[in-house]
Amino acid sequence: MSGPNGMLYGGDEIGALVFDPGHHSLRVGYAQEDTPKADIPAVIGVGPATHIPDAEEKVPDGNVTQSATKKDELRYYIDVTELHVPRPNMEVQTYMKDGQIDNWDLFEKMLDYCYSKVIRSPSEHHPALFTEAVWTTRPAREKLAELLFEKYQAPAFFLVKNAVLAAFANGKSTALVVDAGASQTSAIPVIDGYALTSAAARSPLGGDHLASQAKLLLANMHIHMLPLYSIQSKEVIRERERARYTPRVLPAGLTSSWQQYMLKRQYEDFVHTVAQVSEMVYDERTAASVPGVHYEFPGGYHQDFGPERFKLTECLFEQTLGAPHLGMC
Ligand SMILES: Nc1ncnc2c1ncn2[C@@H]1O[C@H](COP(=O)(O)OP(=O)(O)O)[C@@H](O)[C@H]1O
Ligand SMILES: [Mg+2]
Repeated sequence: MSGPNGMLYGGDEIGALVFDPGHHSLRVGYAQEDTPKADIPAVIGVGPATHIPDAEEKVPDGNVTQSATKKDELRYYIDVTELHVPRPNMEVQTYMKDGQIDNWDLFEKMLDYCYSKVIRSPSEHHPALFTEAVWTTRPAREKLAELLFEKYQAPAFFLVKNAVLAAFANGKSTALVVDAGASQTSAIPVIDGYALTSAAARSPLGGDHLASQAKLLLANMHIHMLPLYSIQSKEVIRERERARYTPRVLPAGLTSSWQQYMLKRQYEDFVHTVAQVSEMVYDERTAASVPGVHYEFPGGYHQDFGPERFKLTECLFEQTLGAPHLGMC
């Protein structure tokens, strides 16, 4: 009989894990389950261990990985409940670069967190499958294999190109896979289950670009985006009325990397709610006739967004509407 994560291999039950590291988040879960167990931001808060949390910050310590208790040691804050707490001197760092894992020390902290807090089971009990970008270099692949076998003692380890998995997930072994992620968009031909690496085309436009387009759009509309953590309370106001809110008293020494990260999350939320892709070739008149969506900003200001919804995304398709120099390369 097979258990809840039942997967039989040679008659034995194995709880194989899947890790999908991306620029925006890392997805981790059991093979054969429909959704990942966790979707963890691909950034880690790194701050001095000496900081003693005040009463307000006393969220359960579960998500904090403390490497040691020595004074100069650093503390790592992983996942939203820990990362989104304003903490003095906590810098936000990522372990990804150009679609690959780049900072291995930080990535180890993330894997420690995955095994101890998400999977909650020893790594040596679970075969691991990792996805990788087709252009991942050989040293990076070797390093990952070494880490999984030597540090985590994985009983089996497999690396698959994410384009191949995307094709299989859609029931095809031959496909042209277009993957729009946070930091880039790629088009990769997959033939009979093999990704044609040399034919891969990449563009640096992705979700992050949409967030920066949103920033530009709101700045042009003179709408001030405030980060959620800076608001203590807000009043109910009418549409397009000036926001009335009480700012929150924040600890001193918040780093700009953390503030920028939190603000980016806010712009992303705006994009997720408001942005819309035109189903046909973009046309101002049709865009104007599509119903608008309502969006309330953290400070309480709210209004409807109409044709702007398409302007955010059209830059990905229509060169004249933004980033003309950034085509597929
Ligand atoms: N509904 C949505 N509308 C627009 N962008 C979205 C939406 N959902 C997710 N995104 C963007 O997609 C990106 C994440 O895509 P994903 O493939 O998970 O990235 P990665 O593999 O690089 O981690 C983020 O930039 C996110 O803001
Ligand atoms: Mg991705």
